Amino acid sequence: MFEEVAIARVAKLPALGGETVRLQGWLFNARGKGKLMFLLLRDGSGICQCVVSAKNVSEEDFQLAKGLTQESSFEVVGVVQLDERAPGGSEISVTSVRVHQVAEPYPIGKKEHGPGFLMDHRHLWLRSKKQMALMRVRHRVLKSFREYLDDDGFFCVDSPIFTPNACEGTSTLFETEYFEERAFLTQSGQLYAEASAMALGRVYCFGPTFRAEKSKTRRHLTEFWMLEPEIAFADLTMVCDVAEGMIRYTIRQVLEHCAQDLVDLEQDAENLEAWDKEWPRLKYDDVAEMLMAWKAEGIYESDFQPGDDLGAPDETALGNHYGCPVMVTHWPKEVKAFYMKRDADNPDRVLGVDIIAPTAGEIVGGAVREDDHDVLLERIKKHDLSVEDFQWYLDLRKFGSVPHGGFGIGLERTVSWLTGVEHIRECIPFPRTLQRIYP
Ligand code: 4AD
Ligand code: MG
Repeated sequence: MFEEVAIARVAKLPALGGETVRLQGWLFNARGKGKLMFLLLRDGSGICQCVVSAKNVSEEDFQLAKGLTQESSFEVVGVVQLDERAPGGSEISVTSVRVHQVAEPYPIGKKEHGPGFLMDHRHLWLRSKKQMALMRVRHRVLKSFREYLDDDGFFCVDSPIFTPNACEGTSTLFETEYFEERAFLTQSGQLYAEASAMALGRVYCFGPTFRAEKSKTRRHLTEFWMLEPEIAFADLTMVCDVAEGMIRYTIRQVLEHCAQDLVDLEQDAENLEAWDKEWPRLKYDDVAEMLMAWKAEGIYESDFQPGDDLGAPDETALGNHYGCPVMVTHWPKEVKAFYMKRDADNPDRVLGVDIIAPTAGEIVGGAVREDDHDVLLERIKKHDLSVEDFQWYLDLRKFGSVPHGGFGIGLERTVSWLTGVEHIRECIPFPRTLQRIYP
């Protein structure tokens, strides 16, 4: 008879030494010898060794345990034994077993599989140790972003997904039918977050964003999740302070809550510790000069010329040099979006900031927004955007316009950086890329 005792999760077992608990999960792995079986039960919060001894369970339950295949779903009841040598610090001495389903031969085995095969089986691949760790870190990163902002007086006000207008340039819009009209999938919730900030002062939105980029790099998804804080009465320094404060808080939270995940991901905690220090804030022109000097000295190779956007090799060179994220500000107006405010000291430069993280490249794009109605109208026309579609956005500059700014941070880029996982497609449950929309 299966005992209906309280259900526990693996991650909580260290606090339950000596108690009888019930675990529910899937078989990660099993080995056995004679009258003893060791079942590794995976429940999403962790993996626990369940020891099934013929002398502690009925013959029927022992046979059930023996019949479990990889990824079979089952439950055990048993006593929590604290043991420092056990993975996670505890194991279960099983007294009864219940099987939900004995799994068919599992397609993902111990042998190496190629990325194409794994991505085709993404719905199952998510159950592997590394992928579970990634999803837990992803959760912690988002939770930490939100915690930091919530505690700092920000309100979460989400932006729409269907939009009539472009935010980050017209070349990467996904178009869709919208009854009799056409609409686009949002590239960024920023413009709406600006409206919300004029209502609530400090806001952020979080949601999926879409870019029809014909880009096959390891850093690009066509659908990714972005968190976008927007702050009324902010200058560039404040935008930088919030971004740095929020991300460094997140680093500390990941270190505190995801220690085992970092081990599973083979990411050294020391890397993260080294990133939690004050980040350099550099003007684009100084960065450009430095990059040109490094090129001349043969430190790295790139086609970069002053005035250009930074490419992957340039970002890598910066990351290697500083060993921590770098905030690059005061960008040439030509490489940035229409809404960015010009630098009063140099009208060719905009008050934008990108945060470049080691190995991952750009994780944040932000700016002070143009708050003058007539200047903004001029920009919209210059960028061949529809004044009619942007009428509501222009309105914000007519009714109590204030200096304001914010930034967007890509969740998957951040996770890829913090975990050291090179390809961003592993940092989202079901990636959408130029070549993939299945599963
Ligand atoms: O620099 P971006 O394009 O900035 C904006 O969209 C602003 N409207 C944000 C704002 O100020 N509220 O994108 C911001 C971040 C990038 O730094 C990167 O982390 C992520 O979004 N990102 C992508 N992530 C994955 N795949 C892509 N194709 C991405 N494009 C941008
Ligand atoms: Mg950008």
